[in-house]
Amino acid sequence: MHAAVCSEYGHEVYAYDNNQEKLEAFSSGQPQAIERYVNEPGLVNIIRETLGRYLYFSSDLDAIIEGTDAVFMCLPTPPNLDGSTNLTFYDAAAEHLAELLARRKDKRRVVIVNKSTVPIGTARHLERIMSSHKVKNFGVSSNPEFLAEGTAVMQARRPDRVVVGCDDQQDFTILRRVYSQFVNHVRIKYIETSPETAEAIKYVANTMLLTYISFWNGVGAKIGEKFPNVVIDDLRLGVTSDERISTWGSFVSNGAGGSCFGKDIASLINQLRKVNVSTKMLEASYEVNEYQKVYLVDRAITEAGFKFNKKTITVLGLAFKKHTNDMRDASSIKVIESLLGKGAAKIKAYDPLANESARAVFDPAKNILFDKIDYYESAKEAIEGSHALFISSDCEEFRGLSRTIEQLVQPPYLVMDGRRMIPDFSDLISRNYTYLAVGAMAMGPTPCDAEVLIPLRQSA
Ligand code: UDX
Repeated sequence: MHAAVCSEYGHEVYAYDNNQEKLEAFSSGQPQAIERYVNEPGLVNIIRETLGRYLYFSSDLDAIIEGTDAVFMCLPTPPNLDGSTNLTFYDAAAEHLAELLARRKDKRRVVIVNKSTVPIGTARHLERIMSSHKVKNFGVSSNPEFLAEGTAVMQARRPDRVVVGCDDQQDFTILRRVYSQFVNHVRIKYIETSPETAEAIKYVANTMLLTYISFWNGVGAKIGEKFPNVVIDDLRLGVTSDERISTWGSFVSNGAGGSCFGKDIASLINQLRKVNVSTKMLEASYEVNEYQKVYLVDRAITEAGFKFNKKTITVLGLAFKKHTNDMRDASSIKVIESLLGKGAAKIKAYDPLANESARAVFDPAKNILFDKIDYYESAKEAIEGSHALFISSDCEEFRGLSRTIEQLVQPPYLVMDGRRMIPDFSDLISRNYTYLAVGAMAMGPTPCDAEVLIPLRQSA
């Protein structure tokens, strides 16, 4: 993503990866080949426009570092079991780069820039790796990216801020050239600071965003679920009308997923523990979010009187949010594990983009219970013949589901809405369906009698 967007700025960009097939896919410029690796709206167009003019993919790292001003490190940094960041890939790449930089012919200043989210102090660690290989005339930098999936291209073109952490004016100068259109921009903040501060900005931003979500899920949603006549949507409006409080994060849900929040908060907890700082607040945000993913399944039992044993349950929305096939940390994983753990006989699953990636996650070789999951090509097919429905992501197409539900399944039928996606839920209740959403008390008949065999209508 960063390589493509930089090439769009008019820089000459050479992208390297140790996966030859991936390089070939990107070099081909073929949408299908590229989208096997990354499916980000707008990305393929940029690659096709700049390929061979500004953007090149190469497996010859030795050649492409000659004459380069900046090397961006965009490595995967997965979590270890204790939450700490696994720097194995990062370190291997840094060592390899250091060996090559040490023997480059070109003696110009080169800045090595961390784009990946890495623990505070990693730029310093990178500096040590370079020095140990006797690399000359180099600087290290932290330049975190704040892009959200699905809107990454748009945000990269028009970020809120660009954060650049360096030690040396020469390196700030190189990066000012890279981001020249954002320096002195009237609306985009261009922030220059130390590498450590830049690294910390990324962790504090992501953990604060997750804390917003956890605050709403752990406090706002619970008030709506426990006190009669509290309307969660009005509560949100009333609170977020305060200019100091963001609306982002106020949309209550069955937990936030994705590749960043869970991993980053676990890493920051780990980093702070090592320096003997209390991590109570971060732990609470993390725990609220993790339990929130399955809380609605528990409420279905305690509040709606539903029994999952031997039931067929539809799960709609498998990816961690709409417009992506990304399953990393998706709430649906915990939801489905919980449903199967509570004895569900069958899961009928559907996601407009993520069925294929979900199959890889729910691999029966990892857990035999995953054998009970079937995937469908539409919400309709997935709902037909089930005893209850769980909505786990915010795909727009789920908003109009109440009519579909009425056409396909008869009450008693339980709708568990983890994303408050059914605005006309009162129609369902008036027809005796039971509706249980995050942020509100159960509505419609309870207990939703699990023992009754549901007479199914013919599919519409
Ligand atoms: C996030 C950050 O937004 C981004 O700045 C950072 O660089 C990477 O992590 P991303 O993981 O792509 O980006 O997803 P985001 O759109 O932030 O959503 C994260 C999760 O929170 C999703 O599961 C989303 O559905 C959920 N969410 C978001 C809520 O539950 N409620 C909200 O109000 C907002």
